[in-house]
Amino acid sequence: MDFGKIKILIDTDPGYDDAAAIITAAFSSNIDILGLTTVFGNTSHDIVKKNTASMIDYFNLDIPYAFGEKEPLNKNNIATEVSEKDVFNLPEHESREDVKGAVEFLKEKLEEERGKVTLVTLGPLTNISKLLKQYPKCKTMIDRIVMMGGALNTGNVTSAAEFNIYCDPEAAKEVFNSGVEIVMAGLDVTRETMLYGYDLEKISGFGEKQTKLVEIIKACSSKYGLTPEKGIPVHDVCTIIYLLEPEVFESEKFSVDVETKGEITRGMTLADRRPFSTAVKNTTVLTKININKFMRCFFEIMAKY
Ligand code: RIB
Ligand code: CA
Repeated sequence: MDFGKIKILIDTDPGYDDAAAIITAAFSSNIDILGLTTVFGNTSHDIVKKNTASMIDYFNLDIPYAFGEKEPLNKNNIATEVSEKDVFNLPEHESREDVKGAVEFLKEKLEEERGKVTLVTLGPLTNISKLLKQYPKCKTMIDRIVMMGGALNTGNVTSAAEFNIYCDPEAAKEVFNSGVEIVMAGLDVTRETMLYGYDLEKISGFGEKQTKLVEIIKACSSKYGLTPEKGIPVHDVCTIIYLLEPEVFESEKFSVDVETKGEITRGMTLADRRPFSTAVKNTTVLTKININKFMRCFFEIMAKY
């Protein structure tokens, strides 16, 4: 039991930037990761599971984990093609029985903690939507949801939608309308977090584990056409840096909802920015990032391990 630390549960679809976020949180002395749950997203859930297990093993992360959903709530939802893009190629972790699913795991962890827990989500919101629907009492045990997802302005997987929301818009809509406080680290800030060649060399120079993380970042991102010369975004890391140093960001509260019916806007996170709006402002949206402060905080943690 670590008193005084920020207690978090991470729902994730590793993914190279998920790995960077998880390792940043694990290296930080101010965060206590109570557990991880996996969800489909960056790649197939089978590969997500392997990446998670092998990452925990390789980086000696003493963190319990459980496996979650392999497809969205709406089985007809066609996410982007997710071939074997994000394969970490770490030594195989011994296979284990899925002793319990992500929803049960999250519920038990929340019930175990007397204080409230922060839910950090780095992928599609399928597991979280199921948790809040099956166990509504868990809403009172969650301090807030800090998510990488959405965008006030342009998307990435479509011009309107960010990938994590697009993969399961129905789940995202339910989470945004759940009444739980949300902090949205959307593309408006996360796309600024570009690591270039010199950044990656600096991180590698901190040691063997950091070198392996850089290898994962380079290998997986290259399959998306990303290069150290053009810059490699570490979207998910924003959630962890926000927890540690919220002043790295500017933010504004809005009422945010998710489009699930639009022919070209499906998966869009729409903020009601009308000055006369009376809608409940359910979401703190990160609107600006001080990239120098972000990088300083990120590198300080990377150097600590
Ligand atoms: O749009 C970026 C998000 O999609 C990140 O979480 C990345 O890991 C992918 O899941
Ligand atoms: Ca992710």
